[in-house]
Amino acid sequence: MPDDAVIAVKPEIASKAGINAERHRAMTEAAERDPEGFWRGEMRRIAWMKEPTRIKNTSFTGDVSIKWFEDGVLNASVSCLDRHVEAGNGDRVAIIWEGDDPNSDAKVTYREMHRRVCQLANAMRGMGVKKGDRVCIYLPMIVEAAVAMLACARVGAVHSIVFGGFSPDSLASRIQDSECSLLLTADEGRRGGRSVPLKKNADEALKTCPSVKHVIVARNTGGQVAMQDGRDVWWEEACGSQPETCEPERMNAEDPLFILYTSGSTGKPKGVLHTTAGYLVWASYTHELVFDYRPGEVYWCTADVGWVTGHTYIVYGPLANGATSLMFEGVPNYPGIDRFWQVVDKHKVNIFYTAPTAIRSLMREGEAPVKKHSRKSLRVLGSVGEPINPEAWMWYYRVVGDERCPIVDTWWQTETGGILISPLPGAVPQKPGSATLPLPGVKPALVDNDGKVLEGAAEGNLVITDSWPGQMRTVYGDHERFVQTYFSSFKGTYFTGDGARRDADGYYWITGRVDDVINVSGHRMGTAEVESALVAHPKVAEAAVVGMPHDLKGQGIYCYVTLVAGEEPSDALRKELVAWVRKEIGPIASPDAIQWAPGLPKTRSGKIMRRILRKIAANETDALGDTSTLADPAVVEDLVENRVAR
Ligand code: WT7
Repeated sequence: MPDDAVIAVKPEIASKAGINAERHRAMTEAAERDPEGFWRGEMRRIAWMKEPTRIKNTSFTGDVSIKWFEDGVLNASVSCLDRHVEAGNGDRVAIIWEGDDPNSDAKVTYREMHRRVCQLANAMRGMGVKKGDRVCIYLPMIVEAAVAMLACARVGAVHSIVFGGFSPDSLASRIQDSECSLLLTADEGRRGGRSVPLKKNADEALKTCPSVKHVIVARNTGGQVAMQDGRDVWWEEACGSQPETCEPERMNAEDPLFILYTSGSTGKPKGVLHTTAGYLVWASYTHELVFDYRPGEVYWCTADVGWVTGHTYIVYGPLANGATSLMFEGVPNYPGIDRFWQVVDKHKVNIFYTAPTAIRSLMREGEAPVKKHSRKSLRVLGSVGEPINPEAWMWYYRVVGDERCPIVDTWWQTETGGILISPLPGAVPQKPGSATLPLPGVKPALVDNDGKVLEGAAEGNLVITDSWPGQMRTVYGDHERFVQTYFSSFKGTYFTGDGARRDADGYYWITGRVDDVINVSGHRMGTAEVESALVAHPKVAEAAVVGMPHDLKGQGIYCYVTLVAGEEPSDALRKELVAWVRKEIGPIASPDAIQWAPGLPKTRSGKIMRRILRKIAANETDALGDTSTLADPAVVEDLVENRVAR
């Protein structure tokens, strides 16, 4: 597919869209000319208890301080629930829940959501949870997850969701970092016909989490679990007799809404902190613009609420906009490879948002499972989490969307709160593989390694030169790390960690991470995390981990392992190490390849030359580049000779 392949916006799509090309241009100009005026208008998309007078107060230099709408007062749960009920839309379905088992589903109206959120909020208050307290959520994809998030928002508690696929150790370190006082979990999760022992994992984690005083447990599968007296209580017992209304806490615009841990290039995962008003405005704004969302439509984002995509585009964005949001407990290939399309037809889904890794794996199975279902309700298709290769893009467009549905390839990050670069379905011609243009109000730039801003068509490091309301405010408990990570590489700008190319039309093509973060099936993983898991094994002396190209996952995890003296490599040990990393971090960190390395390529000052390791993993061994600074060139020869073929 040549770079200049363009899929024009069809006139019949542009004419019905909320935003056409002309309006897109006008918005972009307005946001450029008068950002304060622009956001003063857009902030009215959410409900305020007291409207702010100050709009933007941000600085990317010095200590870095980001404040939006700073004298406003609101409660996020009111924007997502109360106001829809008050506007007479209480009977509209807020969440369609589709179970892992195709015979189980449920519809929850806005009125019902409101009641459930208020009851849980009252139960939490009864347990002593107050404004500013941290609450950990370790739940599967069940309605309780959304209820839990909004109940936290209602009482002003800061939620920290930990993905259900994380291990007890990973859960424990996240709870410890933010000293959560309450944990919300379930007996078990269910995915692809298998159960996930959430409560058992939680019990294991809580052995090292003295801050947790209470655990509320949702009964999901009905599986047997241990309940600890005085600490654990069943969800329905905690909530059943609570009043059905609950006074929302008055929150300042800049009070924290949630923490979400994400991997960086060094050290342990960092707690990305988002605050109330700016995040919610951004969630609502981007959900409406990017998906051209229209009232009454059914919208389905296939992410898990454990990731930021689930936060912004299953819960906060859609519910702020009064949408019907589909929440799916299962996986794309259970019970059959056609599950997505079966669900699309069953619930008449209009907007569908998924990850390239899912598209690639379905593409492998051919067109028949897709064509078996009508999909005629579909109107807009979205992609998120990693670069989508043009082949997968075209398959999505041609086979899934029957060349009817525009595709929005949305670039963003946990840190950005919501989408920053994406086409708008009725306004921006698409190019397969490109996230296209920034949304109105977003100012990306490309810089070279010395920080020089590149003009016109160019390739470089992707930075954002000014703040937008949805931007993260700090790393929880470590503002210095926030400043260092994002604002020290290129002074005065936010550094994304991604590389990108900009073509002659100003379109952005994300090329991937330029740091030691890898993207495995759209899940972000720090190579340092996998390395520290490996070296924690008693037989491992040293480890270096890099990403390698992977047909389905985008990137796979390639590990170089040096054993302690006296230990012998074996297939059994290889399996043991894979299992070890899964146990330490979680199944998403499963190594794809382990290579026994008698030594690692190091400079004379002892720094591992990862560039070389990446090349070997990618099987680009004839392009190793400059190896003259290696302390011992023989090490590389051995690694090249013994690379693990896949
Ligand atoms: C990283 C952020 C975005 C929410 C889910 C992942 C990569 C994300 C795209 C895209 C190319 C993408 C980037 C980014 N990424 N979307 N459309 N095209 N790359 O959030 O876990 O914070 O990961 O995902 O490398 O930095 P995350």
